[in-house]
Amino acid sequence: MSVTDEILVSPDVLACPYDFYRRIREEAPVHQTPMGFWVVSRYDDVLSVVRDTERFSSDMRNSFVSGPPSEELRAIEAEGYGRVSTLLTADPPVHTQFRALVNKAFLPKRVAQLEEEIRTIANDLVDAWIGRGRVELVTEFAVGLPLTVIADALGVDRADMPRFKKWSDDSVAPLSGLLTPEQQLECARSRVEMQHYMAERCREREDDPRDDLLSDLVHARFDSGDRAGERLDMPELLSVIEQLLVAGNETTTKMIAAGMLLLIEHPEQMAAVAADHSLIPGLVEEALRLESPVQMLPRVAKVDVEVGGVAIPAGSILMMMYGCANRDEAKYPTADRFDAARANARTNLAFGQGPHFCPGAALARSEGRIAFETLLGRATDWAIDTTAEQPTHRELSMTLRGLSGLHLTFRELDPAKEPS
Ligand code: HEM
Repeated sequence: MSVTDEILVSPDVLACPYDFYRRIREEAPVHQTPMGFWVVSRYDDVLSVVRDTERFSSDMRNSFVSGPPSEELRAIEAEGYGRVSTLLTADPPVHTQFRALVNKAFLPKRVAQLEEEIRTIANDLVDAWIGRGRVELVTEFAVGLPLTVIADALGVDRADMPRFKKWSDDSVAPLSGLLTPEQQLECARSRVEMQHYMAERCREREDDPRDDLLSDLVHARFDSGDRAGERLDMPELLSVIEQLLVAGNETTTKMIAAGMLLLIEHPEQMAAVAADHSLIPGLVEEALRLESPVQMLPRVAKVDVEVGGVAIPAGSILMMMYGCANRDEAKYPTADRFDAARANARTNLAFGQGPHFCPGAALARSEGRIAFETLLGRATDWAIDTTAEQPTHRELSMTLRGLSGLHLTFRELDPAKEPS
């Protein structure tokens, strides 16, 4: 491992990578690490790569694994439905066909229809601890909100949510790039279990469609392209469902926790946002920008390319450093400063950009907004609970960033007395 590689995976840098990111942006904005991959760190360079699917592929399936899969791993995967590329790891024209199906499910109108349900879920979660004056916000709120929303939207039983949480965690864990072989096997077992569970739920909807996303997907037909009129086969269905289930959970959890900690660390901005909830959408964007849940994702150069003036050979893996680009001073003056009213915060790359731009962004933004409206509407005097473990970023992952816990104290607002 080189210095860059060691730094990238060192617990200290992972806990707070921002000084290191600044150095990369300033001293070597595009460079190859001896681990092999290329770092792309500036806002404009990241944007130009992710928009260009002609020259850059999203087939990142080999980017996070070292060496070929073991016999044991292959044997576990053989018990499932295989691994096909539909969205995250697909390129046009295949990606375009699947994306058209998924986009329909997340049209702004459909997301708006979920608003009241999201609010009810948020309030139900708060009801469980509001009388207590203290809460561990990650496990008691930020995990449950997106998990319940997506379970309900897909149409799967809430009683199975603990299993979804495990499947979801095990599905994104390989993205850390730092799993041991034994952990990789455990994640593969979990994935196969999820596939069998979801295949059963899909079969139930074959003859008995319901008003849910699973039924929509089971009965969906491609609109255009060489598969026009055809339905998705089971491995394709499972690939799309897995991504919908997992992509929006940990990420949204991390966004909510990060936003709350930023507010607590900046009491004057907490007061402003609590007094005027129209500032909440801006707060959500600024939290996404400053503490991007997805810190980086790869692309593969299909041909010899030049990025930021640096020549990169075909076949190279390029890391899109979303979390680093979101602090690029050329785009965001005083970029390291938290400013819930920052004018251009919504241009952040936390949801990516281009054809792979997160299809769940409208839903995640809505969940974030409702989460803060609920939390700040129902309690005040939010503070770190000094008697409990202090918030840290202990997760060993190059890709995901977020708080593993956030112990807080607060004072319940009396709904009869306080303005909403
Ligand atoms: C704060 C929350 C979220 C963040 C930060 C986030 C982040 C991202 C990012 C960065 C990408 C782009 C990947 C790339 O560049 O290759 C992406 C794609 C994706 N996201 Fe999200 N996401 C969030 C919430 C959600 C939600 C709620 C859902 C669905 C319910 C979702 C589903 C997906 C899917 C299916 C893709 C793949 C899209 C494609 O490749 O075309 N995400 N997300």
